Amino acid sequence: MSLQDRLTELRDQGLADIKSADVLNKVNQIKVDLLGKKGPITEVLRGMRDLTPEERPKVGAYANEIRDHLQNAIDHRRSELEEAAVNAQLAAEKLDVTLPGRTVPQGQPHVITQIITELEDLFIGMGYEIEDGDEVEEDYYNFERLNLPKDHPARDMQDTFYITKEVLLRTQTSADQPRALESHDFSKGPLKVLTPGRVYRRDTDDATHSHQFHQIEGLVVDKHITMADLKGTLTLVANTLFGDQFDVRLRPSYFPFTEPSVEADVTCFNCNGKGCAVCKQTGWIEVLGAGMVHPRVLEMSGIDPEVYGGFAFGLGPDRFAMLKYGVDDIRNFYLNDVRFLSQFYKKG
Ligand code: DAH
Repeated sequence: MSLQDRLTELRDQGLADIKSADVLNKVNQIKVDLLGKKGPITEVLRGMRDLTPEERPKVGAYANEIRDHLQNAIDHRRSELEEAAVNAQLAAEKLDVTLPGRTVPQGQPHVITQIITELEDLFIGMGYEIEDGDEVEEDYYNFERLNLPKDHPARDMQDTFYITKEVLLRTQTSADQPRALESHDFSKGPLKVLTPGRVYRRDTDDATHSHQFHQIEGLVVDKHITMADLKGTLTLVANTLFGDQFDVRLRPSYFPFTEPSVEADVTCFNCNGKGCAVCKQTGWIEVLGAGMVHPRVLEMSGIDPEVYGGFAFGLGPDRFAMLKYGVDDIRNFYLNDVRFLSQFYKKG
């Protein structure tokens, strides 16, 4: 067999082998076997020394051509197999992005927090600052600066947890009033502040009492503030939380730090004011305490009550939540039972 024929034979056999190689390793092996130093092509080239000088370049050129041809076929087959491997992997790892996702259970703010946030939004819209008072407070701010000196009988209703004789867990967010008053610079405009937070009392827990609950305190002090401003503000609160058909009624009351003092009622949500068991046939439900800031309270903060005056109110978001959602036991809010709390989740 001539060298050319031998080369042709090697080429045809080599191409067939390359074509049928189905994994990369086999292709690599064929390359070593066929084109390597000990392979048949190298051997053919070695046999060229027996050829005539005219034949040698022809056979040499043909051998090179065949080596290139095989090398190209190997490269081509390699990339085919590599691509196939990538495609197989992609197919195996294919994601169906149209499948519905698995929902991750997600918590939401507590119903009391929802009410506080709703009211904060309302008051921010009216230009109030929102401030956090301290839960650990001085007797001085919690009582004395609110016109409740040490022997004042109204202290009895607000017995609390004492840390020392002079430091206690605050009984009312009203303690934030003197702090806000003494730090406000009236040359910069009126004082309008809302201070929501936790308060504490030495109460025996029952359906309507908890030793810890929430209050939202509002305080406005400026020149020419009247009770009409107070009533308008409270009506807005009732309308925002309950609805536009709700009205507010003020009844005379007593708090040491307001004069005059009032209790505010809203139209009974259950009977729309007609009278029912929930409102004890009155058509009204008591929701908060309020009044015009007592001149003594202003004086103690270095503010001239002849020039400045204002109103204050304190409402209980726990009680609002009970009224709004018909919850009959305040302790439900604090048991942290998700079955109860998730009823107040907003959709979405
Ligand atoms: N601090 C009072 C309480 O806990 C509620 C209250 C009444 C707050 C009248 C006020 C107010 O700001 O003016 O019972």
